[in-house]
Amino acid sequence: MALWGGRFSNKPTDAVFALSQSISFDWRLAPYDLRSSLAHLAVLEKARLISKDDSGKIREALKELIGEVSSGKFLPDDSDEDVHSALERGLTEKLGTLGGALRAGRSRNDQVTTDLRLFAIDHMLSLALMLTEMIEVILDKASEYANDAAPGFTHIQHAQPISFGHEIAKHAHAFARDIDRINDWIQRTSVSSLGAGALSGSSLELDPVFTAKNLGFERSFENSIDAVSDRDYVAEALFITSLIGVHLSRIGEEWTLLGSTEFSWAKIADEYSTGSSIMPQKKNPDMAELARGKSGRLIGNLMSVLTMLKGLPFAYNRDLQEDKEPLFDSLDTLDLVIPAVSGMIATTNFNREKMKLSAPTGFSLATEIADYLVRKNVPFAQAHEAAGACVALCEKTSCELHELSDHQFAEIHPSLDPSVREVLTIQGALASRTTAGGTAPSQVLVQISNAKKKTLDQRKEITSKMKAFSEMMGA
Ligand code: ARG
Repeated sequence: MALWGGRFSNKPTDAVFALSQSISFDWRLAPYDLRSSLAHLAVLEKARLISKDDSGKIREALKELIGEVSSGKFLPDDSDEDVHSALERGLTEKLGTLGGALRAGRSRNDQVTTDLRLFAIDHMLSLALMLTEMIEVILDKASEYANDAAPGFTHIQHAQPISFGHEIAKHAHAFARDIDRINDWIQRTSVSSLGAGALSGSSLELDPVFTAKNLGFERSFENSIDAVSDRDYVAEALFITSLIGVHLSRIGEEWTLLGSTEFSWAKIADEYSTGSSIMPQKKNPDMAELARGKSGRLIGNLMSVLTMLKGLPFAYNRDLQEDKEPLFDSLDTLDLVIPAVSGMIATTNFNREKMKLSAPTGFSLATEIADYLVRKNVPFAQAHEAAGACVALCEKTSCELHELSDHQFAEIHPSLDPSVREVLTIQGALASRTTAGGTAPSQVLVQISNAKKKTLDQRKEITSKMKAFSEMMGA
């Protein structure tokens, strides 16, 4: 059904309809559109712009439609331009001309962005909850390996030995920040646009603050033009989903690398791997690669919305209809990727022995020699030189640091007596990194337990917001 046409003598051509329709992708806004219609009905009734009797009939029809949309009994048809037109058709089929009464004081411009805000808040909350589940998986895996040494890398070169649990746990902190970002975003997004009309507000006695409360928004718009043209919340949501994508991608890259034959640290479970159609021996880390690959499309969706918004003049422009598909796609993409990556992490086993053997190689304990000299009051620059000289000698004589003789150590620096060997053990090097947030296994366990507490708090906050949201939707 079309919501306009009075002033036209010709109908849009098929090509025009095909380009302008959004029903092929915006139908998923239907539950939110129906709920915001209930709120608009309430304000029309409060302003006595609609009789109690009529409003009762419309409310009943809207509630029926809510049921029929969720059961799939009511569906859009080929004549519907968008979700708003389809649902007005539904109301009109039930109520005759009374079905069009809700259009008073409301434009699709304030309606669509209200619906989209509700949709976005609902789905970003589910995303945050999914992230808490993944964080728990990561932290459990991290505690399994808290006491296992591995080389830590910078520039993908051995740098200093670390607890492998520490390496895994770092990913949990990135996702915890993403949840914080979602919570911050909700604060800014929780603004009702209903009452802004097409762009200038309304001459009818609507009460936007009343409507905002009815829909569980924290506040109502302050500028009706801004209300209908602002899509900052879409761009910001897409930045958050992009960053989540980037965090997933970094996990994907690490798992792919650590699972390679050259590393052979990670053994990804069969059920999270795939085979090759030609090479029977192959077991490929496709989940990790897709986690990495999908980040491209998430970032692309952000770019597409920012580019669409750039240079939009004044209030509503039809360009804004292009806000939905990128948002839907990014949320759908994460719905696919997060459970697969969580499962992959939970079922990956790491080769403790190999990591441990590899930990001291590549002269990763050279910093220990420098720190040892600093404890003997040697200025760090000189200590660094001496430790470097030890590395150079090892390279020349093809040995590891702990294999240098007492004589060789003493020749490099007089303070390098045989007790230097005490710091040249992985266990000693790890255990000594006890600064808060450091890699000593004791600290890693503290870190994991704090992160678990934070996740529980985050989950409580999210579930209470979800509960309030679903109560609002059901009201
Ligand atoms: N389907 C449209 C959108 O998504 C609804 C708003 C249409 N408004 C208009 N003035 N044509 O933006």
